[in-house]
Amino acid sequence: MTQLLLNTLKGEPADRVPFWYMRQAGRYLPEYRDVRATTSSFLEFCHSPDKAAEVTLQPIRRFDMDGAILFADILVLPDVMGQTVWFEKGVGPQLTPIRTSADLNRLGLQDMEDKVGAVFKTVETVRAALPAHKTLIGFAGAPWTVATYMVAGEGTRDQAPARRMGYHDPALFERLLQMLAKGTARYLIGQIRAGADAVQLFDSWAGAIPDSYFDRWVIGPTRAIVDDVRRACPGVPIIGFPRLAGTLLERFVRETGVDAVSLDSGVSVNWAATRLQPKLPVQGLLDPHLVHAGGEAMEKEALRILDGLKDGAHVFNLGHGFTPDTPIDHVAALSRLVKGYRR
Ligand code: CP3
Repeated sequence: MTQLLLNTLKGEPADRVPFWYMRQAGRYLPEYRDVRATTSSFLEFCHSPDKAAEVTLQPIRRFDMDGAILFADILVLPDVMGQTVWFEKGVGPQLTPIRTSADLNRLGLQDMEDKVGAVFKTVETVRAALPAHKTLIGFAGAPWTVATYMVAGEGTRDQAPARRMGYHDPALFERLLQMLAKGTARYLIGQIRAGADAVQLFDSWAGAIPDSYFDRWVIGPTRAIVDDVRRACPGVPIIGFPRLAGTLLERFVRETGVDAVSLDSGVSVNWAATRLQPKLPVQGLLDPHLVHAGGEAMEKEALRILDGLKDGAHVFNLGHGFTPDTPIDHVAALSRLVKGYRR
């Protein structure tokens, strides 16, 4: 059975543009909130295969996307590496911060496949239930973005704690990035062996870095993961998402070796079509706040993206995830528009 989304990620587009959305499972769906309410701890929820598989499939039933994205979180990895991670309602992620080499020495990758076994079980469960023509996307956080949470102990606006560690103590910071790159590659390989058809690396904070350090903190670790995953699982597309990387996107694409690239809402459609799309499939761009707004503003912008990228491989998606207050009707209208579009 051929998968439209998978083929497009491999650079073989068809007349219809496949679509999925970042954060397509989540709080904007009442059926998500119902299942979520049965487990108080968010991480425990991520390690509950039946529940995680159910919420992975919910948006597909409603909107018929071409792909499902595994329900889990980028902070599952620091947790299984031994860091204390919890989610505070209304505050977001909280971690005991990594500040010294002693803190880092307490973390490790021993038996990590066993510790994330429940996530692999979610992948197996979803793949068995998902129609064969739909693509299952696995994911992980990229080392830089995961490190920003591990060092700060929370989400921060400017990622200052991680940047400062990177400048004050480059050896320590790069040891953390290397450990994350190894762990992330093993985590993604496990997801692929459990049934993921493609994987995405979320580097949500890739825009907070001077370009002389971008090579060391973003490109190097991403390249290491791409090499490990490709060696173990040749032919499985790897999507990079260096959010807000701006003028560094071309370098990211050239030097990491990712198979496809996801773009934030600040990237020009025409620039993406002329500078990136001839080299690899592109995904993303639609501002999630336009889906919050809905109506003509949303539809006009979605069409501008579809028309602008129609001459190459394009996976329709958002520039970042849905907000929890996104109206479901707007998601339904957007999905109808994209499904009805022909290149
Ligand atoms: O549908 C999907 O996209 C799949 C699941 C998914 C989640 N998080 C579920 C989630 C994915 C791919 C992620 C990735 C993720 N997690 C990123 C990268 C993408 C991005 O948004 O930039 C980051 C930075 C995180 C870390 C994280 N997880 C934060 C900052 C938060 C709290 C913010 C919030 O919205 O509350 C989370 C929690 C989280 N991850 C929720 C969901 C659905 C909400 C928790 C809940 O349901 O109570």
